[in-house]
Amino acid sequence: MNITITKNYSELSVKAAELFYKKIKAKPSIHLGLATGKTPLGMYEILRKKMKTDGLPTDKLKVFNLDEYVGLSKNSSKSFYTYMKKQLYEPLGLKERQYYIPNGEAKDLEKECLRYEQMIDQFGIDLQLLGVGRNGHIGFNEPGTPFDSLTHVVKLKESTRKVNASFFGDESLVPTRAITMGIQSILKAKEIVVIASGEEKARALYEFVHGKMTEEWPITALKNHSNVTVICDQKSARFLKRKEGVSHD
Ligand code: GLP
Repeated sequence: MNITITKNYSELSVKAAELFYKKIKAKPSIHLGLATGKTPLGMYEILRKKMKTDGLPTDKLKVFNLDEYVGLSKNSSKSFYTYMKKQLYEPLGLKERQYYIPNGEAKDLEKECLRYEQMIDQFGIDLQLLGVGRNGHIGFNEPGTPFDSLTHVVKLKESTRKVNASFFGDESLVPTRAITMGIQSILKAKEIVVIASGEEKARALYEFVHGKMTEEWPITALKNHSNVTVICDQKSARFLKRKEGVSHD
C-alpha cells in the first residue's frame, strides 16, 4: 500500500487529479471506476479542466460508477447519474456508450445488479477511485457486508443517510436503498486509489492501515488487494503511524 499524506484538501485534489490525468494520458482507452460524494469534487474539477485545456482525447474512455440510489429518477438533481453528468460526463463530452452506472429505477433490481456485475466482468476496471464513509464503507457497502459480495441492493444505514442529507436538504428525502458494486466487485479492479479528507475519516483510515481485516470495517477488505494507493490529507491521517512507504508532501 502506497500512502501519500497531503497538507490539506486542495493538495489532495491536485495529487489525485494528477494521478488520474497521467493514467488517462498513458492509456486513452482506460476503464475508470468512479465515486461520488464530496471528496472527489476537487479532483474532478482539476481533472476536467486540465483534460480540456490539454485536449486529451476522451473518445475511447469508459467510466463506471460504484453506486446509485434506488427509486430516484435518473434525471433527479440528487441522483449520482446527475452528479457524474455534471462533474465529468458532459464536460468531457462522453457519449452514452462510454459511461455506466447502476439503474436505480429498474423494475427488477436483482436483474439489474446481475447485469451491472456482468458488465464489470466483461469490460474490466483498470483504475478504481474510492472515497470512504466515516464508518469505513466503500461504495455503499456498509459495515457487515460480506467481503465476497457482488453488485447488490443495500439498505442504507441511518448514519449514512444523515451524512448524505447535505445533498438533499433533509434526511427524510434521502432514499433508503441503493445499488452498489459489492466489495468483491471493487476488488476486481487492477488498481485502486482511495482518497480521504477530514478528521471524521481518521478512524476509518486508521482501521484500514493499522487494523485487522474485518467486515465491520469494509475498507479493510482492500488489504487483500495488491495495488492500492491512498491519498489523504493530514486531518484524516492524524492516527496514522509514520513509517516507510508513507510520504508526507
Ligand atoms: C457515500 C458514497 C461513497 C463515498 C462516501 C464518502 O455515501 N456512496 O461512494 O465515497 O460516501 O463520501 P464523502 O466523500 O462525501 O465523504
